Amino acid sequence: MAKTKTTYFCQSCGYETPKWLGKCPACQQWNTFVEEVIEKPNSSVPDWKATNSTSQQRSNKAVAVGDIAVQDEHRFATPDQEFNRVLGGGIVAGSLVLIGGEPGIGKSTLMLQLAMNMPGLKVLYVSGEESEKQIKMRAERLNATPQPPEGGVEFGSGNAVPPSGGGGGCYILTETSTQNIFKQIEQTEPDLVVIDSIQTLYSSHIESTPGSVSQVRECTAELLRFAKESGTPVILIGHITKDGMIAGPKILEHMVDTVLQFEGDRHHVYRILRCIKNRFGSASELGIYEMLGVGLREVSNPSEILLSQRDEALSGITISATLEGMRPMLIETQALVSTSPYGTPQRSATGFDTRRMNMLLAVLEKKCGFKLGAKDVFLNITGGIKVEDPAIDLGLAAAIISSHEDIAVPSKTCFAGELGLSGEIRAVNRVEQRIAEAQKLGFEKIFISKYNLPSTKQDKQRIDLSRYTIEIIPVAGIDEVFNLLF
Ligand code: TYD
Ligand code: MG
Repeated sequence: MAKTKTTYFCQSCGYETPKWLGKCPACQQWNTFVEEVIEKPNSSVPDWKATNSTSQQRSNKAVAVGDIAVQDEHRFATPDQEFNRVLGGGIVAGSLVLIGGEPGIGKSTLMLQLAMNMPGLKVLYVSGEESEKQIKMRAERLNATPQPPEGGVEFGSGNAVPPSGGGGGCYILTETSTQNIFKQIEQTEPDLVVIDSIQTLYSSHIESTPGSVSQVRECTAELLRFAKESGTPVILIGHITKDGMIAGPKILEHMVDTVLQFEGDRHHVYRILRCIKNRFGSASELGIYEMLGVGLREVSNPSEILLSQRDEALSGITISATLEGMRPMLIETQALVSTSPYGTPQRSATGFDTRRMNMLLAVLEKKCGFKLGAKDVFLNITGGIKVEDPAIDLGLAAAIISSHEDIAVPSKTCFAGELGLSGEIRAVNRVEQRIAEAQKLGFEKIFISKYNLPSTKQDKQRIDLSRYTIEIIPVAGIDEVFNLLF
């Protein structure tokens, strides 16, 4: 029996120290250290093919950058277009992808749906959270979609054998020990491995409990080694903590190639898959899904669903042309301004930063002379999604004024502009894309910043706004918008 050893880990960043500390010297957080029992690696336990000991001894030579042979990384395109888009064109061979999200948001559903619909590929779905029966029930629910997997779904007692006919298929394994998982991987030889979730796995190399910092780190390291050596992509599902961080050390995010976040409001049907880090593509991509009774449906035209179907204009409602990732989206923004019955007015925003809302209110008060100090203000972005694009400022400001004055903004009008502290409307990026999307959806007018208009001759050649049939209204300040609208 090897001597047990305890170490203290920072739960925030994974910093390791032999003694307890109040403040982490690496990430400066207080009270994050927890004691964990770790054991010296026991050589009798089989690891991923036990090859890592030799591969670790292998040393690499320095190579001139010009001499490195370039080859495009091999990607598997999945049948899920939104997932492909977020990953930058499909799953890269040998990559480790982490997908995080709150409990119940639909991570297991998304992954099982993907695993069952990979044509011609063998997928091993490892679950440490649910029993085979539960997964089978979910699979049956998802199977109502009209794309049955080619090789069928195999349910066995953890020893799935390859189907005799070859081809693809989805294998389910309920197991939490990494050593046993690797044994099954060797037998099944899958083309893709999904782990649900990384916090339930344990490696017998380490003594501490599943979900602890050292276990999560060790299991990820073992899976990383497997992915890189075998070229098999591995998708890890990870939980997130109350404050939205992926549970376990931050180091997990550094170890993997791609970090995706699955988010949305559980009471709404829309879900957003956001890329936070991507070693193989752009990190600003975004996928949108709708949660139905039979699984997740891809939403390829988000604007149409985010705008409520309504013909008459109502006060307090405006449409903003925002950009999420690289995708233009028209989103409905709603404001309600009412006299506060209490001394302290209430301010609340759903889907938008409250501090930024307070800034908008202060600018409106100072520059347009609204007395909002004794008013309750509520903002809401419809569809339950969160918007960080500053171009939504102008639309929200217009919605607040509209509700305050109780005058409706014409329903075929939309906005794209950032509000500055002195009430100026600032230019936003990719304005042409926003205008094009608004025009495509049948809007008649769009308010943009004056500074988005091409000013030099060179700019005029590059940006040609005259080709749009939608009326473009350039504005310089919030007071100007107010005078034009009301
Ligand atoms: P789940 O994938 O279990 O979430 P996670 O793995 O992120 O914790 O999703 C669970 C929720 O999704 C649950 O509340 C039920 C709902 N759901 C549907 O609405 N439709 C479906 O087809 C499925 C399978 C689940
Ligand atoms: Mg789950």
